[in-house]
Formats: sequence, C-alpha cells, structure tokens
Amino acid sequence: MSEKAILVVDGQQIELPIITGTEGERSLDISNLRSRTGLTTCDPSLGNTATCKSEITFIDGEKGILRYRGIPIEEFTENPNFIEVAWLLISGNLPSSEELAEFRDLLTANELLHEGLRHQFQHIPVEAPPMAILSATLSNMACFYPGFLSLDTPGTFNEAAARLISKVRTIAAYSYRRSQGLPVVYPDPSLRYCANLLHMMFSIPYQQYVITPEIEDAFNLIFILHADHEQNCSTATVRTVGSSRANLFASCAAGVSALWGPLHGGANVEVIGMLERIRAGGMSAEDCIAAAKQRDSKFRLFGFGHRVYKNYDPRAIILQQTCDRVFTQLKITDPLLDIARKLEELVLKDPYFVDRHLYPNVDFYSGILLRAMGIPTNMFTVCFAIGRLPGWIAHWKEQHDDPGSRITRPRQVYVGSGKRKYVPVEER
Ligand code: SDX
Repeated sequence: MSEKAILVVDGQQIELPIITGTEGERSLDISNLRSRTGLTTCDPSLGNTATCKSEITFIDGEKGILRYRGIPIEEFTENPNFIEVAWLLISGNLPSSEELAEFRDLLTANELLHEGLRHQFQHIPVEAPPMAILSATLSNMACFYPGFLSLDTPGTFNEAAARLISKVRTIAAYSYRRSQGLPVVYPDPSLRYCANLLHMMFSIPYQQYVITPEIEDAFNLIFILHADHEQNCSTATVRTVGSSRANLFASCAAGVSALWGPLHGGANVEVIGMLERIRAGGMSAEDCIAAAKQRDSKFRLFGFGHRVYKNYDPRAIILQQTCDRVFTQLKITDPLLDIARKLEELVLKDPYFVDRHLYPNVDFYSGILLRAMGIPTNMFTVCFAIGRLPGWIAHWKEQHDDPGSRITRPRQVYVGSGKRKYVPVEER
C-alpha cells in the first residue's frame, strides 16, 4: 500500500500518493494535481521537483554518495576505464569482455570526422571558444549523418551513440589544434580512447606524442568522474530537448551549451582564474572569501557549493587524491594546488560556508589536475563535456524508450499586465 499525503484545498481534502525510490527517497506525486484542484506548484529552479524516475545514477547529497547503476564511483578508481563506464551508464550493466571489445572496435570505426566537417575547422576563427565549436559541430553531425536522425530502427542507437562518443574526442582535438594554429592530427586506430585524444591534441607531424600511463589513467578517471550526475542542468536540458523527439545530436549539442555556463561546467575554468589571481597577488585567499560572502556581490567562490551535495562532493575527494598521486608520479609541483588547499582549509572553517554546507565540488580540483596533464584552460569544460556525454546519451535513451514519456512543458504563474487595449502608435 503506497504512502499518501493529504492536501486540504478550499476545504476539500486531496490524497496525493508518495513515491519511494530504491534508496528510500520520497516524492509527492502531483501528476494530476491541476486536473483535481486547478493548482500548479511553483518551484522556479526545480530544486524541490523530481522531473522523472531514473535508474541511471543515485546521489545522496547529505552523505556525499554517488553511484552509477548502483556501483559507487570509488570502485572505478583502480585501473579506470572510461569506455567500460560509458557502456555501464548507457546499457545498465558492466560489459562482458566481448561486449567491451566490440564497443571499442565500434568507437575505433567511428573516430574519423566526415571530411566535410573537418574542412569547416579551417574557417573557424582561431580565438573561437572550443565549447561553441563543440556544440555547433555536434549539432552539425545531423547534416553529415542524416541516417541517425531517427533511432527507432534496431541498432541505429548503438551506432549513433558510438559516433558521438568517439567523434567528440576528434572534434575536441581539432578545436584545440585550430586554436593553436596547428594542422589537425588524424586519430590513430591502434590507440585506446584517452591515448588517442592525447595523440590528436599533442602529436605533431613526424613526432608522435609520448603517452605516459599516469596521464592516460588520469584522463580515464576524470572522464569517469564527470560521466553522469542525475538531473544536473545540462542533463535536464538534454532530456528536455529529447522530450520533443529531437534527434540525439541536437539534444547533446544543447547539453554542451548548458554545461558551458560558469555556474555549471564552466566553473573549472573560473576556479583556475580565481587561483591565478591569488597567486599573482591580485587578491589574497582571504579577499576571495570576503568577496564571496558579500550579499550583493556577484562574485562566487568557484568550485564550492552544490545544489545537491550538502557534504563533500565525493568526486572532489578523489580528484584531490589524484592530484597528489599524479604530481608525485610526474615529479611536478603547482603553486595553485597549494593555494587551493589553503583556500579549502579557510573555507571549511568559515561559518558562512559551514552554515550553508558549501564544500568543494567536482570543479575545484579538476582544473588543477588537467593543468598538470598539459591540458590548456580553454579545453577544461570541453573535457567535462567528453566525460558527460555518455550520461547525456543514457538519459536521452532512458526517456526515449519510456512509453509513458511526454514532451516537457512546465506551467507558470502569470504576474504580468491585466487585459488592456491596443493603442495605435499615433496616440501613444
Ligand atoms: C557542477 O548539479 C550538478 O550536479 C552539477 C555538477 C554536475 O556534475 O553536473 O555537479 C557540476 O556544476 C558543479 C557546480 C560548479 N559551480 C560552481 O562551482 C559555481 C559556484 N557555486 C555556486 O554558484 C552554487 O553553489 C551552485 C550554482 C553550484 C549551486 O547554486 P544553488 O544551489 O542555487 O545555491 P544558491 O545560489 O541558492 O546558494 C545558497 C546560498 C546563498 O547564500 P544566501 O542566499 O543563503 O545568503 O549559498 C551561497 C549563496 O550566496 N553560495 C555561495 C556559493 N554557493 C552558494 N556563496 C559563495 N560562493 C559560492 N560558491
């Protein structure tokens, strides 16, 4: 017998079912509230609203728990394999060795960009933001691969997903090469997923980039940690666009645009800017914190705070540990890591942040690690997008396959002008 809540409206008692999730989280089912009461609910940023039921990712924000298809993310840190996690998120299970080999071959078969798409890079301004290139090129894939606009034919979904996951690397690498005024480097079919991205970004003609296992592992781990995060802004965007039955390329292109914002995936770039300003002496860590606490200031302490985590973001813990390990392995130091640690220490003691449960999030250490791997700042959010793509695809598919899914169309409360007459311009 499902639990119920009682709502009293205009003297009338309304019973509303309570839905309980796998981990005991509870939600009030208001799917027929308006038809029964004429009322809608008002929750502008949807912080109190579950927009779907999903089997993909579970987050417990109070306890700092993140699981992909039930598996805690901490279990992917040994020998991290991003492609294996991509398969898990999309299919629901870890791949067998045969499935993993097949998937890898499918990605290799789809790593090249259509030459028409490649030629477009020559006309893009050198200073173009890579996230703009990524969103435009993903959307443009609909022009060059028209056979994947509808995915109702069996097998086309897997092919479209593989094309996206494989080509997103090539697009990212080409946008980096364009920004450096360098010729593109074609993918090498003998290389694994992350190694190929490093090769396409950093090899130069007649001088193959030397892949170090530490950096390849770190890239796999970074992509795994970014792979999905339930109904975050960009994933919710992908689901909204996909709910109109728009194609997978267009839906993921929309996700890239949402991710670009500095409050979301763009925060990893802002964190480095903030730490650089402290290092350059422009402002101290204390100044940063003071500015972030000013009520009317637009300044935020980037890399801190989260809509769901009111505890440490488990990804930030892993990324901080990975920074230590990779820095030791590569025998490097970065003053920004020391500044980040000091900033974190001050914040975690400051009542303003403690009272608001503002802890480091995934973006606080990810940029420092990417820097150590030689990734330029303007590619940080693109790396976030490469990692998040399998999550977007998994959510798009979950909604696409749900016979009960409908187009997303929220309501509103109208607070504008009452009815009034049109006034001809000569009388205004
Ligand atoms: C990601 O949703 C996801 O899952 C996202 C993500 C994913 O994997 O997809 O985890 C990735 O986007 C991580 C977040 C990256 N963004 C940043 O680091 C930007 C800095 N953080 C904030 O802008 C903020 O914390 C958000 C955007 C992350 C969350 O915003 P909320 O939930 O709307 O919180 P809020 O703005 O309502 O803040 C609540 C209070 C406010 O103060 P009061 O009104 O109570 O006085 O906390 C304050 C805010 O001013 N606050 C901050 C702060 N974050 C919140 N104050 C200073 N610095 C901050 N970073």
